[in-house]
Amino acid sequence: MRHAVATIDNTAAAADASHTELGPTGRPRSEFSEPAPLKGHGPARVIALCNQKGGVGKTTTTISVGAALSAYGRKVLCVDFDPQGALSAGLGVTTHDDLTVYDLLLSGKIDPHDAIKPTHVDGLDVIPANIDLSAAEVHLVGEVAREQILARVLRSVANDYDVVLIDCQPSLGLLTVNALTAAHGVLIPLECEFFALRGVALLIETIEKVKDRLNPALQLDGILATMFDSRTLHSREVLDRVVEAFGDDVLETVIGRTVKFPDASVAGMPITEFAPEHNAAKAYRQLARELVARGAVA
Ligand SMILES: Nc1ncnc2c1ncn2[C@@H]1O[C@H](COP(=O)(O)OP(=O)(O)OP(=O)(O)O)[C@@H](O)[C@H]1O
Ligand SMILES: [Mg+2]
Repeated sequence: MRHAVATIDNTAAAADASHTELGPTGRPRSEFSEPAPLKGHGPARVIALCNQKGGVGKTTTTISVGAALSAYGRKVLCVDFDPQGALSAGLGVTTHDDLTVYDLLLSGKIDPHDAIKPTHVDGLDVIPANIDLSAAEVHLVGEVAREQILARVLRSVANDYDVVLIDCQPSLGLLTVNALTAAHGVLIPLECEFFALRGVALLIETIEKVKDRLNPALQLDGILATMFDSRTLHSREVLDRVVEAFGDDVLETVIGRTVKFPDASVAGMPITEFAPEHNAAKAYRQLARELVARGAVA
């Protein structure tokens, strides 16, 4: 049986010491070692968190893994690339009259540094967004090299950070294509529920097209199973299917389902700060270590 033991989100099943303990994806369980401190910072690797399906954990993952990476001494810039502004709100950042990513896309004259806001998490900054961004696709459609505008914006700030995380909106439109064009890697959160794989083929096709036409160096950094409930056969079956379909591209770290996430969002804090000892915070710290171990983050 693939799921020989419980996942990170619940009590570890007593593993028979004579057997290698398997993680939820069926591979030998690894905790990944703590990343070595960096001697200097930048240039950043840019990672787009992408899935056109809504509510799969893109924003939660951007915030949580960003905070976990900053706790490991990485300098992190999160880019809110969704007009809903959930990333900004989840990090306790309001926009009022401040510059947002929309202003940076529309005017090449603004220094992107001026739109960066610190958060209360040490080493974690954000370029916020608000509903203005919903007009961006219409405004950008007639621009020259309209797919490369975010890449140009990020170029000037990348040297200050080790990693830039772009929280995409649930669509495969021009904004998401901009994120994929600006990125070195894509991380795809997938919710462990029945329709998880629906639409993933289209997402992979879009990634391939961007790679082919705009960004040949684009890599798939991994598929992250989220909202996994080890108590339900259904969740385990879905995870099995995801592993069958994507093999080693599925990250070893699996994020369990817990109500702590909505609670943390309401508090405007990453889970790693809101409930640092909760299994969900531990899971995102493990994800941060796994991304470093895979070379997706310095
Ligand atoms: N592991 C989890 N367990 C339980 N709830 C979660 C988990 N991860 C995220 N959530 C909650 O699910 C909802 C959707 O999560 P999130 O906003 O991160 O998804 P999203 O993919 O960014 O959504 P959208 O496509 O709308 O931008 C939020 O209310 C969030 O708090
Ligand atoms: Mg979101």
